Amino acid sequence: MRGKSGPRIGSDMSNVGAIEHGAVAIREGKIVAAGPEDEVRAQLEGVLVTKELDAGGRLVTPGLVEPHTHLVHGGSREHELALKLKGASYLEILANGGGILSTVQATRAASEDELFAKAKISLDTMLLFGATTVEAKSGYGLTLNDELKQLRVNKRLQDSHAVDVVSTFMGAHAVPTEYKGRADEYVALVINEMLPEVKRQGLAEFCDVFCEHGVFTVEQSRTILGAAKELGFGVKIHADEIEPMGGAELAGEQGCISAEHLLAASNEGFRVMAEAGVIGVCLPATSFNLRAKHARARAMIEVGVPVALSTDYNPGSSPTESLQLVMTLGCLNLGMTPEEVLTAMTINAAYAIGRGERIGSLEPGKDADLVVYNATNIAYLPYHFGINHVDTVVKRGQIVVR
Ligand code: NIG
Ligand code: FE
Repeated sequence: MRGKSGPRIGSDMSNVGAIEHGAVAIREGKIVAAGPEDEVRAQLEGVLVTKELDAGGRLVTPGLVEPHTHLVHGGSREHELALKLKGASYLEILANGGGILSTVQATRAASEDELFAKAKISLDTMLLFGATTVEAKSGYGLTLNDELKQLRVNKRLQDSHAVDVVSTFMGAHAVPTEYKGRADEYVALVINEMLPEVKRQGLAEFCDVFCEHGVFTVEQSRTILGAAKELGFGVKIHADEIEPMGGAELAGEQGCISAEHLLAASNEGFRVMAEAGVIGVCLPATSFNLRAKHARARAMIEVGVPVALSTDYNPGSSPTESLQLVMTLGCLNLGMTPEEVLTAMTINAAYAIGRGERIGSLEPGKDADLVVYNATNIAYLPYHFGINHVDTVVKRGQIVVR
């Protein structure tokens, strides 16, 4: 993946630029050369090499990028498994005060330190599975103070953890119980109080909204995204996850950096997204876990939507931190090739969180974020599923997993 700018679309998603006998040279946390080993060594002639890490002929990829997680939350929801097995749907559980709303209760009840300790364990796991940059959304507080509490945990993780954490405000994740039947009033709270305060404290870079039947309408979502943009946030949208709502079209209209889920999105929605350059973030672990239909990743790639992949790690619809599981599901359930999957979890995922010029590929000038696997080729990762293939992780030139 070299020499190009912007997220990869169409057949370019397959051009990962794999190099046999490759090498990467790193100085002060940045890549200074990458390519065939003999060429890299020639470029380094006369330079004192202080440390060499021999990958022994194994596969090396850019650090994996997670563009969509709900990392910080209280509690867990394993009791929903039995409800699901009895046939309850995700939206039914939510409408009965469970689902997201039960995690809201647990998150409100937790202290900032408790949330930090729990999220750190998950972030450690993500790193062990190869993620070196992770986006994290709020949205389980749903009061100003509880949202700020979640976002402060993002900041503490960013300041203290090897993994980079990119923070997204998602006060419009659900209508809280105390606003039931008064969604417009809650939207006003998000716009008039939460967004400006989050901005003032500099606690988030992006704003996301759950545009879904029974959650926020297209009109409410448009209002929130518009207000966020006016304050200078980048905007994202959970779009057409369950019902076809026109969320993909809204993403294009509003110039969202990414639209997520998209299981029920229309062809017209994909066309509008492609035209506007909106990245489609597919979350196949969520559709697997909800036993739902899958996002039409092939249709997106064909029409020119840049596709990214992520776990959607959260305690309800996707309780997994493993991007390697997502690789397998990306191939088997979305019909993507291993090369497309790798592009979707590196350079396209990086662009989905505004980091495409800095991470996501092994190119001179980029951060030296690398993963070495116990594998010799890309296809082996999704093929041999359910285990962790990571051997070593390097973050900005430092070995952080070995
Ligand atoms: O991306 N769809 C909405 N939000 C999350 C799920 C959150 C939850 O169930 O706690 C998602 O799937
Ligand atoms: Fe999500």
